[in-house]
Amino acid sequence: MALLNILRFPDPRLRKIAQPIDEIDDSIRQLAEDMLETMYAAPGIGLAATQVNVQKRLVVMDISEEKDQPLIFINPEIQPIGDEIEEMEEGCLSVPGFFELVKRPAHVIIRALDKEGKPFEIEDQELLAVCIQHEIDHLDGKLFVDYLSPLKRQRIRKKLEKQERLQL
Ligand code: NI
Repeated sequence: MALLNILRFPDPRLRKIAQPIDEIDDSIRQLAEDMLETMYAAPGIGLAATQVNVQKRLVVMDISEEKDQPLIFINPEIQPIGDEIEEMEEGCLSVPGFFELVKRPAHVIIRALDKEGKPFEIEDQELLAVCIQHEIDHLDGKLFVDYLSPLKRQRIRKKLEKQERLQL
């Protein structure tokens, strides 16, 4: 197991598009384990491979209170159901310290492969639905700050860049 380095906005590597995983082997399972460990240590409730500079369509999450229900999604896809929109306050391990309201489809079906390559499906209209949309955005090079006004995004960018300099 190993802790991985989490890229921070505005790192341009967060804009890369992740590729589908064709073969689910031990290296992918190891990556998923390392991502879970990194996510728990952060601490966070979701992490996409893009955030640890791996361009593969892999997401890990744990939205349980006890942090004992790890979820691994390989090649995840979502399909919104109905047109209800939910507004939730989102944060991100790549945008530490900032929380903003984001609107997304409230009710989705998630389809993905598990770590053995078996397809599974989850329907959700709460935190899991929002979280998986946030994480799939990462795989597509998108961040929650992209939903904010340019002014707000710029302000967050400046603050994080300043922190980065102070951490030298
Ligand atoms: Ni995030």
